[in-house]
Amino acid sequence: MSDLVQLTKDNDVAIITINNPPVNALSPGVPEGIAEAIEQLQKDGDIQAAVLIGGGRTFVAGADIKEFGKMTAGKSRGPGLLPLLLKIEDCRKPLVMAIHGTAFGGGLELAMAGHYRVAVPNAQVGQPEVKLGLIPGAAGTQRLPRLAGVAKAVEMCAEGNPIKAQDALQAGILDRLIDGDLLSGAVAFAREVAGKPAPKTCERKDKLGAPEQNAPIFAAAREAARKKQRGMMAPLAAIDAVEAATKLSFEEGCQIEQKLFLECLFSDQSRALIHVFFGEREVARIPDIPKETSVLPVNNVAIVGAGTMGGGIAMVFANAGIPVLLKEVDRAALDRGLANIQKNYANSVKRGRFTQQYIDERLKLIEPTLSFDGFSGVDMVVEAVFEGMALKKEVFAELDRVCRPGTILATNTSTLSIDEIASATSRLPSVIGTHFFSPANVMRLLEIVRGQATSKEVIATCMQLSKRLGKIGVLVGNCTGFVGNRMFGPYRREAQFLVEEGAGVEAVDKALYDFGMAMGPLATGDLAGLDVGWRIRKEYRHLQKPGIRQPFAEDKLCELGRYGQKTGVGWYKYDEQRRALPDPEVTQLVRKWAAEAGIPQRQISAEEIVDRCLYALVNEGARILEEGYALRGGGPMWYADTVGLKTVYERIREFEKRHDEIWAPAPLLKQLAEQGRAFAEFNKPRTATA
Ligand code: NAI
Repeated sequence: MSDLVQLTKDNDVAIITINNPPVNALSPGVPEGIAEAIEQLQKDGDIQAAVLIGGGRTFVAGADIKEFGKMTAGKSRGPGLLPLLLKIEDCRKPLVMAIHGTAFGGGLELAMAGHYRVAVPNAQVGQPEVKLGLIPGAAGTQRLPRLAGVAKAVEMCAEGNPIKAQDALQAGILDRLIDGDLLSGAVAFAREVAGKPAPKTCERKDKLGAPEQNAPIFAAAREAARKKQRGMMAPLAAIDAVEAATKLSFEEGCQIEQKLFLECLFSDQSRALIHVFFGEREVARIPDIPKETSVLPVNNVAIVGAGTMGGGIAMVFANAGIPVLLKEVDRAALDRGLANIQKNYANSVKRGRFTQQYIDERLKLIEPTLSFDGFSGVDMVVEAVFEGMALKKEVFAELDRVCRPGTILATNTSTLSIDEIASATSRLPSVIGTHFFSPANVMRLLEIVRGQATSKEVIATCMQLSKRLGKIGVLVGNCTGFVGNRMFGPYRREAQFLVEEGAGVEAVDKALYDFGMAMGPLATGDLAGLDVGWRIRKEYRHLQKPGIRQPFAEDKLCELGRYGQKTGVGWYKYDEQRRALPDPEVTQLVRKWAAEAGIPQRQISAEEIVDRCLYALVNEGARILEEGYALRGGGPMWYADTVGLKTVYERIREFEKRHDEIWAPAPLLKQLAEQGRAFAEFNKPRTATA
C-alpha cells in the first residue's frame, strides 16, 4: 500500500489513516491507497466496520490545487475521485468518516461517500470550489443536497463558505459530534453500526424536495449570485448542478456536474483565481530573506495621526488584539479620530459583523494620547500624519529621540521616499514603509516598502505581522507611488483623458465595471477624494516634463471644491445615501475645458476605454517589474498574458502614435512580445529594491 495511506486494526474495526502532510490533500497516491485499503478490509473476515481518519492536524482539507493546473495543461486527466467514491459507497461493511480540522472540497466529497460521518466539535466542512472559479467535481453537488437538503447545498456550493460541525450536524451532513478522542469515538460508533446495512448517500431521495418547493430556492440563489458574485460563472454552474441532482438520477446528475466542472476548469476565471490563490502564498517568499530570518516581537504599537488612515490602522491592530497608543496634535483632532473609529465599529455591529462585546474589547485596546509619553515602551510605531516631507521628517526625528533602540519605525506614506524619511533618524535599518490602503480596516493589501537600509529582520517582522493583521503583505521597492499607486496613476490618467476626449463619465466607469472592476476609476476617485491626488500632483509639479500632455479635469474639479463624496460633488453628485448621480454640469464643464485646450471631441467605444485604462496599468507594471521594484507580476500582468503580449504591445504602439511618448512601450513588454513570451516567464533575481 502507498505510504500515504495506512490500514490498521482495532479488533473488529479497520482503521484507514491518511498521512499526506500538511493537509492530507488528495494528491496522486492517496485515492489509490484508500481504494487498496477498502479492498483489503472487504476481504478480511474479522472486520465488521471501518473508520477513515486523517493523520496529523486535519481530515482531508481538499483537493491538491496543483492538480487543476496540470489538468488544464493537458498533463493529467486521471479517472478523478468519482470511481473511488463509488467504491467506498459500495463497500459492504459500514465505513465511518472521522473528521477533525477541515473537510473542504474533495475532502467533504470523500466524507459524503462514506456511510456515516462523525466529527470533533471544532471541525469545519465546506465546498469552497467557487472561490477558485470551480464547482465540486466529485459528486459534491449531488451528494450534499441528499444529506443536507437543497437550500443548504445550494448555499454551500454557490457561496463556498465553510460551516461549523454543529451546523453540519443540524443540517444532516454529520451523524454525531465526538467530544474527547476522535478515533476512539469513531471506532465505538463503527461498532454500533456494524452488521447493519450500510446506507448509501447516493440512494437517498428524502431531502431532494419537490419542484415547486425548489424553484424559489434556485431562483433566489441565482439572483443573489448575479448580484454578489457579479460576472462569475462558477456560482451559477454550482446552482445548475444542484438543480440537476433534484431532477435527474444520481448518475445523470454526476455527468452534468462533470460537464459543468470542466467548463469552469478551462475558463479564464478559474485559471485567474487559481493564479491569485498561489500568488497570495508566493508573496511571502522573498529571495534574499530566508524563512529562518529572525523576527522582532510586536506586542504593542503606537500610531501617529488619527485621521482617515491612522484611525483605520488603529482598528486593524486592535482587531488583531495588539494594544495601540494613538497620538494626535490636539484634543479636537483626537476626538474626531476616536469618534470615527467608534462610528466605524458601530456600523459593523449594525451589519452583524461584530458583537457589541467584541467592539468594547477592541476599544479598550486603543489608548488616545496627545504626547509622545509611552512611545519608549512600544515595539513599533506607524506614522500616518499629513503627506508632506517636512512634517514626516520632523515626526521621525522626534521618534528617533523618544523610541528605544530596535523599535520599528514605519510610515504609511503613499508617495514619499522612505530613504529620505529615514534620513531624519539615526537608525536607518529600523525604518520601513507599511502602506495601508483606504479603508485600512477593510482593504487586504498591505505594501511593505523596503528602504535602501531597511534590515532583513524588520522586513521579515512586517511580512509576518501582515498575516497577523489579516492582510496580504507584499514587499515592494522605494519608488514614487511604490507599486500600487504608481500603476494606478496612468490608469486614472487615461480615464481622465478619455473624458476630456469626449467619453461620458458614466461610460468610462461602466466600461471598466463591466470588464470586472469593483468600481469604475472615476467613481473610485470620488470615493478616495479627488483632492488627495491633486495635492500630490501639486507637490510633484516641478518634476513634470514640459510639452507632455497632462490630465486637467480633476485638478479643475478640485479648484471648484468638487473633491468627491466628501464634498457631495466630484465626477458625480451624491445624495444623502451617498448614491452617485450623473451630473450634467460636469459634462458641460469638461466640454468647455476641452474646447479651451483644443482637444477634439469624438465617440469613444467601450473597447477603447478598457484597452487604454488596462494597458496603461500593464505598461507601467512592466516598467516596475523590469526596474525590480516588484518581485513578481500581479493581476494586470496576468491579464496581459491571457490577451497575449504581442496583441497588447501592438495596441500600445497604436496609442503611442496617437498620444505620444506617455505611451512608449515598456522595454520589457517589447522584449517579451517580440520573443513570444509572457510576463509569467519573466524571472530575474530581484529583491524589490533598486
Ligand atoms: P488625514 O488628513 O486624514 O490625517 C492626518 C492626521 O494626522 C490628522 O488628523 C492630523 O491632525 C494628524 N497629524 C498631523 N501632524 C501630526 C503630528 N505631528 N502628530 C500627530 N498627529 C498629527 O490624512 P490621511 O488620509 O489619514 O493620510 C495620512 C497618511 O496616510 C499620509 O501620508 C497619506 O499619504 C497616507 N495614505 C492615505 C491614504 C488615503 O486614501 N487617504 C491611503 C494610503 C496612505
